[in-house]
Amino acid sequence: MGSRANAGLSLRKSIARHYDSLALLYRTFWGEHIHHGLWLADDVPPRIAQEQLVAHLAERAGVSGAERVLDVGCGYGAPARWLANQRDCRVTGVTISGAQARLARRYNARSGCDERVDIVHADAAALPVRCGTVDVVWVIECLEHLEDKRSFVEETARILRPGGRFALCTWQRGDAVPESEPLIQGVCEAFLCPSLASAEEYRAWCDCAGLKVSCSEDLTPQVRATWDILLERTRRPWVAPLRWLLDHEVRRFVDGFTTIALAYASGVMSYGLLVASKP
Ligand SMILES: C[S@@+](CC[C@H](N)C(=O)[O-])C[C@H]1O[C@@H](n2cnc3c(N)ncnc32)[C@H](O)[C@@H]1O
Repeated sequence: MGSRANAGLSLRKSIARHYDSLALLYRTFWGEHIHHGLWLADDVPPRIAQEQLVAHLAERAGVSGAERVLDVGCGYGAPARWLANQRDCRVTGVTISGAQARLARRYNARSGCDERVDIVHADAAALPVRCGTVDVVWVIECLEHLEDKRSFVEETARILRPGGRFALCTWQRGDAVPESEPLIQGVCEAFLCPSLASAEEYRAWCDCAGLKVSCSEDLTPQVRATWDILLERTRRPWVAPLRWLLDHEVRRFVDGFTTIALAYASGVMSYGLLVASKP
């Protein structure tokens, strides 16, 4: 195996370990949805704002009743359960974390949607899915972790049926911002992302793969309150002493909350939504 392949494998192991070992931290600080919230014209609690992000992506992607959705990087399955409960979809969620997969199955059973939501413990870079069998490839905040985002978009085009949609929410590098930008590097290191792609790159990869982009939005102003809330939570008096119990990687992750807030504020990073369909 070449050194690049080795580095990729070791990164994927670190990502799996991160989500395996931080399950409690994630659920305590942010709940079952592990993605940004979307604050529209209202001041709602984070949990509602997170559901608003899911609802917004579903609306933009035209997810209607009873579609077959592949949720790549499904976390604890909260968006998948939303799609099953609110849109009557049949969802297969994929996560690289074994601990997440077990918890997601437990939450599915508890909420009575285990017949409509399957969880698979697998790598998004090697999806065992037949050509043209999926109505919607749904990805919220997972592509950041993949080394070869372009190949993922090509694979998406292969597995979608004609008329199927690619629905993506993702952390992005500004279009003219180099990968070497220090805040981008800081975010990538703290959150185990080999790179962040720009909105322009995603659009170009869709184009090349034969997917027609129907929607590309910058949601940064509506999502960035996420980090103010998380930073406020990490500064609570009972949390500060716990910091010294955390290992280096987890401390770097928590320190990354400040870095990402700065990256949004300075405009080097944005939060994008993209929908593209297969003709
Ligand atoms: C920030 S979480 C988002 C989770 C979920 N989409 C949500 O919105 O609640 C990132 C997810 O991507 C998954 N992930 C990262 N790299 C992956 C890979 N190579 N294959 C499959 N899942 C991956 C993680 O296990 C985690 O579930």
